[in-house]
Amino acid sequence: MAVFLGVDVGTSGTKTLAMQEDGTILSSATVEYPLYSPHPGWSEQDPEDWWQATIKSVRKVLKTGNIKPADVKGIGLSGQMHGSVFLNKKHEVIRPALLWNDQRTAAECAEIEQRAGGRKKLIGMVANPALTGFTAPKILWLRNHEPKNFGKTVQVLLPKDYIRFRLTGEFATEVSDASGTLLLNVKQRKWSRSLLSKLELDESLLPEVYESEDVSGHVTAESARLLGLTAGVAVVGGGGDQAAGAIGNGIVKRGVISATMGTSGVVFAHSDEVQIDPEGRVHTFCHAVRDKWHVMGVVLSAGGSLQWYRDQLCEQQVAVAKKQKVDPYQLITAQAAEAPAGSEGLFFLPYLTGERTPHADPYARAAWIGLSLRHGRSHLSRAVIEGATYAMRDSLEIIKELNIPVREIRLSGGGARSPFWRQIQADIYGQKVVTINAEEGPAYGVALLAAAGTGAYKDVVEACSATIRVQESASVNSKDKNVYNQAFPLYQKLYSSLKSDFLQICRLLD
Ligand code: XUL
Repeated sequence: MAVFLGVDVGTSGTKTLAMQEDGTILSSATVEYPLYSPHPGWSEQDPEDWWQATIKSVRKVLKTGNIKPADVKGIGLSGQMHGSVFLNKKHEVIRPALLWNDQRTAAECAEIEQRAGGRKKLIGMVANPALTGFTAPKILWLRNHEPKNFGKTVQVLLPKDYIRFRLTGEFATEVSDASGTLLLNVKQRKWSRSLLSKLELDESLLPEVYESEDVSGHVTAESARLLGLTAGVAVVGGGGDQAAGAIGNGIVKRGVISATMGTSGVVFAHSDEVQIDPEGRVHTFCHAVRDKWHVMGVVLSAGGSLQWYRDQLCEQQVAVAKKQKVDPYQLITAQAAEAPAGSEGLFFLPYLTGERTPHADPYARAAWIGLSLRHGRSHLSRAVIEGATYAMRDSLEIIKELNIPVREIRLSGGGARSPFWRQIQADIYGQKVVTINAEEGPAYGVALLAAAGTGAYKDVVEACSATIRVQESASVNSKDKNVYNQAFPLYQKLYSSLKSDFLQICRLLD
């Protein structure tokens, strides 16, 4: 049977997965690499590390899955979005890549808004406001701060597209990842000439844009030798990690939404039309489904808040869990379950790393609010879980405001593994939630795109319906839903009340 590879160039490592045509996973491997932060707020990686990790993980997957190279019929690429790889005319990397979580570009975001003629006009051109993590502000940063390097730059690539270049020799991207550069006319699915000209950037800096399931090139003889593949294997467009992860969850139809609670949390909705939030609170990007779009909200510290809580305040449970050989989160959620819904008036704002949706505020900070003598550890634990879930509901509410129907919410990530957290999600979202059979995320999504793009399926929608099934569900507990419905407006108000104080707190540290 034909085999398809999905390669996901993540922030902590590159994960490669081999999938049989019928969706069965044969093997997977992750190879990690470092992240560098040479100044506070900077976040960089060496693209050569991504390439070496791709070589190693592909070789490992072929070996452990006992896969004959000739059976590999297609490769899909996914990766961390928004990063920038700058290449010179010899096609060498000029400097370390700036990543999605790099915060150095506040001044460039302001410059983009001003050159575009204001925030509203910018959103009109590229469907989104300028955020520090996006690619366009990074290109302007290079021009403003490292003009010599900018002068040498002939091509700017996203992380997974640099791997495509090494694999195939082609400069290419696809619509979902290109949307996160802030340079794509998201409605027309092509580079925005009007914004490029206002920014005085040459279109030749950017690669060709494909639909996500289209073949963008073929593996060269040299990279085939390095990876242990046969030359000429088709490489499809693939997708940014969020769109690819959504394909891996089967989010390919109107009304089906995913809520993924990893370190960050993402609420992702498929949309048949371009739906733009005039306030720019959620991102509107092209989907990895042909001629479709998606709207998504990103919570920067969702599961990350519980991880922080575990690492900083749950030493005892971590030690007990180690002895009992169980996951510490199991003990933390069991303790959280001892407190009632709403944590007896205790709120947790999960803004440990600032917030993207809906506030776009790097200065927002986390807090427990409402503490009294009644509160103990169970309340602290439950409030963290509830706070991260309220933050996800913020995104869900905006999606509903845009008239996108929410018929089914599919959960994935750490928050989907715990039955307790699944129940809290059903009660806070106010709707039944389900889990699915696939848990592999973006690498699986792009393996499906590769299968669709090389003819194993008519398209990626057919590939998803052949392979992805709903498994478990949690229905709403109406008593708890009422408690959360009363508490949610107060949760939202707490940020507005504290917004300017958060800024002053950050200034104290300057
Ligand atoms: C999406 C985003 C992250 C990165 C890294 O907008 O910033 O998902 O792609 O995973």
